Amino acid sequence: MRRAHFLGFVQHGLSSHVVGMWRHPQDKVGWDFAGPEYWQHLARTMERGLFDGIFLADELAPYNSFEGSSDATVRYAVQFPTHEPAALAPVISGATSHLGIGLTLSTAFEHPYSMARRLSTLDHLTGGRVAWNVVGSYSPSEWDAYGGVMPDRAERYERIAEYVDLCQQLWTSWDDDAVVADPATGVWADPARIREVDHRGKHFTCRARHFVKPSPQGTPVLWQAGSSPQGRDFAAATADAVFAIQPTVEAVRAYTTDMRERIARCGRDPEQVRIYVGILPVVAPTRAAAEEKAALVESLVPDGGALAMLSGQLGVDFGAVDPDAPLVDIDVPGIQGVKDALVTQATEGAAVTVAQAARTYSSRFSMPRLVGSPADVADGIEELLDDGGADGFILLATYTPGCFEEFVDLVVPELQRRGRYRTRYPGATLRDNIRGD
Ligand SMILES: Cc1cc2nc3c(=O)[nH]c(=O)nc-3n(C[C@H](O)[C@H](O)[C@H](O)COP(=O)(O)O)c2cc1C
Repeated sequence: MRRAHFLGFVQHGLSSHVVGMWRHPQDKVGWDFAGPEYWQHLARTMERGLFDGIFLADELAPYNSFEGSSDATVRYAVQFPTHEPAALAPVISGATSHLGIGLTLSTAFEHPYSMARRLSTLDHLTGGRVAWNVVGSYSPSEWDAYGGVMPDRAERYERIAEYVDLCQQLWTSWDDDAVVADPATGVWADPARIREVDHRGKHFTCRARHFVKPSPQGTPVLWQAGSSPQGRDFAAATADAVFAIQPTVEAVRAYTTDMRERIARCGRDPEQVRIYVGILPVVAPTRAAAEEKAALVESLVPDGGALAMLSGQLGVDFGAVDPDAPLVDIDVPGIQGVKDALVTQATEGAAVTVAQAARTYSSRFSMPRLVGSPADVADGIEELLDDGGADGFILLATYTPGCFEEFVDLVVPELQRRGRYRTRYPGATLRDNIRGD
């Protein structure tokens, strides 16, 4: 029987993925998202709930696809403001002892050499608890901010594959016995056991030894959430864990089956790669109270903000598109998986319109909502494990830190009672805890 794994899905910002949560009466009461205390509390809460980790999503600049500007993004605080995520790693690891820290860091504008160095450094400072969510920057606003033209999806993935390969060459370039540290001879390390990486690829050139001694995990845990065929193949070949947003149990089953086939085709053991799917849990002691809570969350999403969010993530200006147009007919340069999930949510055979998609997306990021009592939410989780084939869950944040406190206090004990969740961490590093039960 599969046991659940959890990741708390947030951004280092005013609000995460549900638009308008900053005005929820229970959001961050007495907390400042820009200060360390809030993050320490959030991390301790997730660790109390034995989560694998905190998943810090990120993008590199405010969305500007809607009506050709970032006005609506700013006006409605659509994933805005968002602070830099990696800076949080030592803050979080200093307040916890097991919780993993998943950092979304883009390959688009930073050389792999400095990325590998930074991640090794953070893996040391956190005692082996760092994961890298490998992304390539899908939003035109990111390319505007850094001064570049977004390559098409095929080229983005080709570049990402070379990028990660170069990082892996650096991370594996020190032999275990490279450090001699012999005070008598004055020799600290044997140069023959620390290979100089000499990479001349299509996108990157690098000739250097890795500047950081091997960190507890050696190679940080690699996370990937690509959902196009190219994205899935890349994830199957490289990742320790993969993520998806799938709107129904059937769609989760199709995804997990497809991913495990792709992983096996790469010659890897599918059971060694964890598959997490997104959910929005809304839990309360009674079903009626949970439904009331969910309705309040939905009522706080402003229409202009919803369209700005969808435009940003799909890279399309929906200000210039008929809101009643079917989304399925529109090509998207941004996140393919988001569009696929939204399109699948067709109601009674009718195609999902742009306006409907924007509301669904900005109020629950296209994830299935599990609304109800602790038993209801646990039932939904068990169904996704057993019928969907998922290993774990990304928990979408609504108001914080309350939504995570409630999940940990109400749902975790229910799952433990049913034998579907751990009662202690199985290991010390993040990789141990992802792989362990
Ligand atoms: C659950 C989930 C979370 C994601 N989080 C981020 C993120 O924080 N930052 C980002 O730039 N992309 C994020 N992505 C996007 C993907 O990593 C990927 O870059 C994007 O889906 C484009 O690739 P695709 O066309 O193969 O889907 C996320 C995707 C999913 C499904």
